[in-house]
Amino acid sequence: MAGPLGRLGAVAKAALGVFGLGVMGRNLARNMASRGLAVAVYNRTRSRTEEMLAEYGNEGDFRPAWDVASLIAALERPRRILVMVKAGEAVDQAVAELRPHLEAGDVVVDGGNSNFRDTRRRAAALEAEGLRFLGTGISGGEEGALRGPSLMPGGTPEAYQLLEPIFISIAARKDGMPCCAYMGSDGAGHYVKMVHNGIEYADIQLIAEAHDLLRRIGGLGPDEQAAVFREWNQGDLDSYLIAISAEVLGRHDPRTGRPLVEVIRDEAEQKGTGKWTSQEALELGVPVSAITEAVFARFLSAQRERRVEAARLLPGPPPVGVAPERLVEDVRRALYASKVVAYAQGFEQLAAASAAFGWGLDLGTVATIWRAGCIIRARFLDRIREAYRERGDLPSLLLAPYFREVVADAQAAWRRVVGLAVEAGVAVPAFSSALAYYDGYRCDRGPASLIQGLRDYFGAHTYRRVDAEGSFHTRWGDDGIEVPA
Ligand code: 6PG
Repeated sequence: MAGPLGRLGAVAKAALGVFGLGVMGRNLARNMASRGLAVAVYNRTRSRTEEMLAEYGNEGDFRPAWDVASLIAALERPRRILVMVKAGEAVDQAVAELRPHLEAGDVVVDGGNSNFRDTRRRAAALEAEGLRFLGTGISGGEEGALRGPSLMPGGTPEAYQLLEPIFISIAARKDGMPCCAYMGSDGAGHYVKMVHNGIEYADIQLIAEAHDLLRRIGGLGPDEQAAVFREWNQGDLDSYLIAISAEVLGRHDPRTGRPLVEVIRDEAEQKGTGKWTSQEALELGVPVSAITEAVFARFLSAQRERRVEAARLLPGPPPVGVAPERLVEDVRRALYASKVVAYAQGFEQLAAASAAFGWGLDLGTVATIWRAGCIIRARFLDRIREAYRERGDLPSLLLAPYFREVVADAQAAWRRVVGLAVEAGVAVPAFSSALAYYDGYRCDRGPASLIQGLRDYFGAHTYRRVDAEGSFHTRWGDDGIEVPA
């Protein structure tokens, strides 16, 4: 039994344990410690824990653990463990290692970019054993993790309540509001993070296409483009990605003195969250064309050798030149309108997923927590927030008064830019698919009647009529008589 001295000497246990001290885990631990929390830290490779302590140990109350049992023993009850390992197998391994040391009510938080289907499976398995699991999307990269990320937690409300005070204290803030909110049950948080990343892909692709247009049609060099992006960042396009585009375009390579963007290979890599967004949209039947074109564009960019060969063999049109001033303003408008479409598609996917999985996602809240901390943070998320606050069941952002006006104002420029790109032979898959979506969406009588006619002709798949209920089939080969199906 501990005597009074023993009790005095006892140190309060740590509020949370971080399992995995890669750059994200380490920075989240530092963020928590900077808010006065005692944080237990563990990494499978011991040297990584040692390095972290050597470098940042004096920043706060870190409690190093050298094995999983001591990590758990260092924590107050119910235990909170944030797993920050590579998505996939490594998460299952971490959970399996933690599992024997946990007791009912403890909560495991997965803060990686996990596939929401894995999160659903893991949550169901742990909850069946009386444990808790909180699949949490975390955005903002290294800097966000350290200074304030955007947090998208999903799981049971009880699991969330255990983490809420810590999450709120470390999250980014916008207008005094934390960029963290409960998203919904099981995989909701990771789903929202996945769509965040899908939108991030579209945003980045649109920026890359704008850069290509300014470069190949406007003849602007990277330094001039950096100035353009800086200026764009003062207006409606104000966002983290536009701001860092100016930085990247303006950077010169110390080795060669050339603009760095000209030295970097034109092959985009990816870790898969954009692809998942498209795959899941296909499952739900939601046309997220701008996001999917962005994924395809990365695939095509990666086929560098084939492109280099094709560039010699496949002819394009003669060059087209335009006054750069006009082009810059047109591209700015086209970029903004296309961006609106990409977000409209992403939010529509969230609404469809919420209905399919019973999450009750609040889209206004999603927009609220994306306003700071995350990679797609942007001024216009305030507008998205307002749109959903005004009408929670808005079928598409494009229908909100502010966005209707944006696209109406931009459409002449948008059409000029896409037309010019086609004429000049510059591939703009995201700009043009966003415009095609806009035109398809606002079309009250499309060409799908012919698709239905063809399907009925070759496969008796039936069609529906504009003037009668029910399904019909035409006897195409015989007398042409239409028969109810
Ligand atoms: C974030 C980012 C991050 C993502 C990178 C790289 O929100 O902080 O989305 O989670 O991993 O952006 O993604 P890709 O390698 O797929 O481009």
